[in-house]
Amino acid sequence: MFFKSRKDDRPAAAGGSPGSSTAPGRASVHMTVNGKTVSGEIDPRTLLVQFLREQLRLTGTHVGCDTSQCGACVVHVDGRAIKSCTTLAATCDGATVTTIEGLAQGGELHPMQEAFRQHHGLQCGFCTPGMIMAAVDIVNRKGGNVSEAVIREELDGNICRCTGYHNIVAAVRAGAAAMSGASRRQAAE
Ligand code: FES
Ligand code: FES
Repeated sequence: MFFKSRKDDRPAAAGGSPGSSTAPGRASVHMTVNGKTVSGEIDPRTLLVQFLREQLRLTGTHVGCDTSQCGACVVHVDGRAIKSCTTLAATCDGATVTTIEGLAQGGELHPMQEAFRQHHGLQCGFCTPGMIMAAVDIVNRKGGNVSEAVIREELDGNICRCTGYHNIVAAVRAGAAAMSGASRRQAAE
């Protein structure tokens, strides 16, 4: 399940207006990406995935279809999974963005990444960053005890052309349990 681009409720900085330092026809964007503050002056038509891949060189976010079908481009914006191939970067001005590169902490894989590794939830790996970002979002919304049926329904927007989904679903279930165990441990500390 994905949330739509916020282009309606978060207008882009148009640039070029009197008093603005942004060049005419350009938009200025500032975001926190994987914990770092970034900014840029971009064509207002720049997609979030282009900004991430081409300007920030965060190439873990993939483009499979460019039409909101496959989910390879899923990232989190302000804690919600979105498809970055159909989100304008300018609409994310001021947002907090997490990409697949931002999940691992201190050299340790995120529990969902580790579950995909342990359960062989990938073959070529092209869909995997989007699958993992979507899976983390599912757990954030549905909790750690999420059923196989719910996982399959929630992954409706992510397509894998390699695996047949069995191992992906097993990985998400294991990752969900590990995530909730980790959060319980943190709460007890
Ligand atoms: Fe975004 Fe396929 S590249 S949904
Ligand atoms: Fe190849 Fe999913 S592992 S597309």
